[in-house]
Amino acid sequence: MTPSPSSITPEVLSPAGGEAKRSYVRRMFTAIAPRYDLVNRLISGTLDQVWRRSAVRDLGWESRPEGIYLDLCAGTLDLSAALARRPGFAGRVVGVDFVLPMLKLGRGKADRVRPLGGDALHLPFRNATFDGAMVAWGIRNLADPDAGLAEVARVLRPGARFVILEFAMPRFAPLKGLFLFYFRRILPAIGRLVSRHENAYTYLPETVLRWPTPGEMNERMRRAGFRDVGYRYVGAGICAVHYGHR
Ligand SMILES: C[S@@+](CC[C@H](N)C(=O)[O-])C[C@H]1O[C@@H](n2cnc3c(N)ncnc32)[C@H](O)[C@@H]1O
Repeated sequence: MTPSPSSITPEVLSPAGGEAKRSYVRRMFTAIAPRYDLVNRLISGTLDQVWRRSAVRDLGWESRPEGIYLDLCAGTLDLSAALARRPGFAGRVVGVDFVLPMLKLGRGKADRVRPLGGDALHLPFRNATFDGAMVAWGIRNLADPDAGLAEVARVLRPGARFVILEFAMPRFAPLKGLFLFYFRRILPAIGRLVSRHENAYTYLPETVLRWPTPGEMNERMRRAGFRDVGYRYVGAGICAVHYGHR
């Protein structure tokens, strides 16, 4: 039997799931866009915004406050806004996403943000265009994350920083157990109820559980052309902020 486009198949959950993942992700974010921000705030208790602001701190934008910065897989532009609202920021943030309804919902969140429909795997920019790049919970959703890292490396000028905010797993046993219970049992139920999408919030924990460890991610960043890479945990290890220089 052919799976329906909204089914979660093994390819959809695979870190490099190719066309099946790409088409699932596109449909899923188109469907959940109207409730995306609300679900984020509910499932994280508004910590998602704290973690975005924390990630922005690793971007090093202060050395080029008038620069041009890329927000990859920008969604409803919360990460773009977190940078654009920093006191002293005088540059521009280009928020790229291939789901236009997500970008539309982000309009008006902050000045200095330019939404742009586009594919993270084929960015419509020349080499060395940006003074920095960032992505929050986006790399994991790419059909080919290594190709996405290479594409970011291509559009960054030499010396520019790249910051990735992604889910990780708490390391301490009691917290990890609690988190896994919440992540696999409670969160999908809240997500299904509020977003009214059958499996978007099952896709979320299941892709996180299959995602490379922060150490492996750093290795992938190195292979894509980044140097001085590292990471730190935020939210008691629920997320990791990766950083590196072009
Ligand atoms: C979990 S959301 C993250 C949105 C936003 N960064 C945030 O902080 O909430 C992931 C986003 O990645 C986008 N995305 C996935 N694959 C993409 C691709 N190949 N090109 C552009 N956007 C993509 C989806 O449309 C979705 O808006």
